[in-house]
Amino acid sequence: MKLSGIQNLAKLAVVFTLLICSGQIQADGIDAKEFVLASNCPPSFEKMPNNTCELRTVYQFYDSLGGHGIGGLQTSLPTERDGFSPEQIDLGRYLFFDPLLSGDGTLSCASCHQPDKGFADGQALSVGIDGALAARSAPTLWNVAFLKSFFWDARASTLEEQVVGPLYSPIEMGNNPVKLLSDLNSNELYTQLFNGAFPNSSETITLKEIYTAIIAFQTSLISLNSRYDQYAHGNHKALSPKELKGMNIYRSFVARCSECHTPPLFTNQQIAVIGTPEPIGMSLDIGAEKTHNAAKLKGGFKVPTLRNIEKTAPYMHSGRFETLRESVEFYTKGRGHAVPEGVAMQLHWHIWEPNLTEDELDRIVDFLLTLTDEKFMPVTPNNVPSGLTPLNNPKDHSTELSHSIIKLKQEERS
Ligand code: HEC
Ligand code: HEC
Repeated sequence: MKLSGIQNLAKLAVVFTLLICSGQIQADGIDAKEFVLASNCPPSFEKMPNNTCELRTVYQFYDSLGGHGIGGLQTSLPTERDGFSPEQIDLGRYLFFDPLLSGDGTLSCASCHQPDKGFADGQALSVGIDGALAARSAPTLWNVAFLKSFFWDARASTLEEQVVGPLYSPIEMGNNPVKLLSDLNSNELYTQLFNGAFPNSSETITLKEIYTAIIAFQTSLISLNSRYDQYAHGNHKALSPKELKGMNIYRSFVARCSECHTPPLFTNQQIAVIGTPEPIGMSLDIGAEKTHNAAKLKGGFKVPTLRNIEKTAPYMHSGRFETLRESVEFYTKGRGHAVPEGVAMQLHWHIWEPNLTEDELDRIVDFLLTLTDEKFMPVTPNNVPSGLTPLNNPKDHSTELSHSIIKLKQEERS
């Protein structure tokens, strides 16, 4: 039997009232029951009596020279950022994947820090709001809990300082604090979740709480149980003879990789001038020279971690190298071979001419592939409180696309 228009409307009204009364489904079809914050800490964190999560890793049993996490295989890690509650970490997970945080609802943190791409984005240069091209490549977020400075040029020294960068940059997420606060505060689900994660504060969501939750989530991304780590903890069968050979070349005073990419974090957290090339035709990125207003740091960048490096191609601040092999080969092509003519760059003393053979380069790559560990991969939420699509990567921008944008950008610059 066909219902008349009025009957139809009445029926709809009943259904709608039922839904609202049940208090579980919002007008946009989101099930509030889905958004119950975890009360347990993520794996490798121990829940303390005061409901905070503290990191536990075997590396905490090891000593370290000067507490800097520098030395041989069994050395400690630098101190980490932890102590967030399970609820804060889980709330941060929703925020991280929610495009509501961008100015036009098209980008989330996960658009450029994609879980399946090592929390990078597979692009030479990241693409932000309205297709704007970022100046640099998106770094991994695995193990950011241990870092002392952030961004390729080390211009932020806390995650708090860092997080406002992408949120409010007109070429990244293009948001502003007023809109961010009003969007989150007018979302009933978020209001409830923030009250759960910050029980002792006011009803209103604050910027500090937003930043804290995002940071709590990021610092839970721990990757310390690769096959390399198993080897370092004494399981000598964890690496094949080829990988072991690679490790020994990597650690040797000929290749010198571990002088900068120092285990166990695979970075000594310093800035080094190594003179990698920019994308063809693009002008020089002076890097940390700007941060410290120091000419001797021209072209200097933070030594990146090499953990999960298998997942984060293309490589370097510029994304100029598409493969690991190319990146490793850079170091043996001659000191300063890619420094543009006429540019005075003070290359680091560990950058020299090790003359590695083809076989040695291959073995180093074999070794780097043993640094992959994604066992503690967080779950990408199926839905986020805003009702927008969680992992929002609207342009399926391939490296090719990003190369053609670089070309356009070059034309603009010249
Ligand atoms: C449009 C792409 C894009 C978006 C969106 C984005 N990022 Fe990034 N992120 C980058 C790029 C590119 C860099 C490196 C920029 C630089 O070094 O100058 C970066 C750097 C970082 C770093 C520093 C890592 C390190 O090792 O120094 C952190 C942490 C980070 N982003 C977290 C976030 C968070 C949290 C969000 C969401 C609030 C976010 N990003 C959104 C592209 C993006
Ligand atoms: C003097 C310090 C130093 C030494 C020695 C060194 N590196 Fe690096 N490495 C860096 C810096 C700094 C960068 C970032 C440079 C840039 O983006 O322009 C980097 C970047 C990389 C990258 C790309 C990482 C990414 O996330 O894109 C790889 C791979 C790498 N190095 C491997 C090696 C290997 C293998 C060796 C030994 C043959 C080595 N490095 C020796 C400082 C060093």
